[in-house]
Amino acid sequence: MKSFVGNIAVEGKHIIKDFRLGDTTTKVLKDISLQVMQGEFVSIMGPSGSGKSTLLYILGGLDAPTSGHVLLNGTDISRFGDEKMSRIRRQKIGFVFQFYNLIPNLNVEENIMLPLLLDGKNMGGYKQQLDRILEIVGLANRRKHKPRELSGGQQQRVAIARALIGNPEILFADEPTGNLDSKTGAEIMNLLREINQNSGQTIIMVTHSPDAAKSSSRVITVQDGMIF
Ligand SMILES: Nc1ncnc2c1ncn2[C@@H]1O[C@H](COP(=O)(O)OP(=O)(O)O)[C@@H](O)[C@H]1O
Ligand SMILES: [Mg+2]
Repeated sequence: MKSFVGNIAVEGKHIIKDFRLGDTTTKVLKDISLQVMQGEFVSIMGPSGSGKSTLLYILGGLDAPTSGHVLLNGTDISRFGDEKMSRIRRQKIGFVFQFYNLIPNLNVEENIMLPLLLDGKNMGGYKQQLDRILEIVGLANRRKHKPRELSGGQQQRVAIARALIGNPEILFADEPTGNLDSKTGAEIMNLLREINQNSGQTIIMVTHSPDAAKSSSRVITVQDGMIF
């Protein structure tokens, strides 16, 4: 087992999340504190509805906590406004979801480059990075294909490539193998493990699959909005 003596990549301090719908308040996260070190590969497991996705989105800056703090490399992002937050997300964070979320009429390259395009980056400067990422995810010979011409596993590789193109410090994944058969799921987990080990990218992944969790260096269990 690797030991982690480096810096803290993400820290949650006393995170509470309530959702209010009309008169009812649902307490979803109940005072969660955790630290993930740079280079760690952490799995978040737990029953359906226990608050795993909510926790992941708050740690990754897609949602704000009701109270408590999220620190990315020591910077408290939990009270950042929309504009500052989206800049942090574009520069430091990559997200992968269960259902890939690819744009159907864009090809593989275009889907991967989309975050940079939206960020107003000059595409010319990213050609080598694109080639490198396509090589890593094993899609160098599929670059002109549309999503519908790819298998589920290949589509998830495109989504992983899209999350990596901006060279984020942290990769967040919400059930990345949840829609895949077990063999394809295992291939995706191998890819994530390689990315973690070869480029030292910190990964925080929600999964239902004990097999998938075996790829990670640590498992955090969420139950009823608390961690164990
Ligand atoms: N935007 C939302 N509005 C209201 N309730 C929500 C919202 N998002 C999640 N919840 C509720 O929070 C609880 C935890 O959801 P979630 O974090 O998605 O769980 P998990 O990912 O562990 O299955 C569920 O009861 C869910 O219905
Ligand atoms: Mg979920």
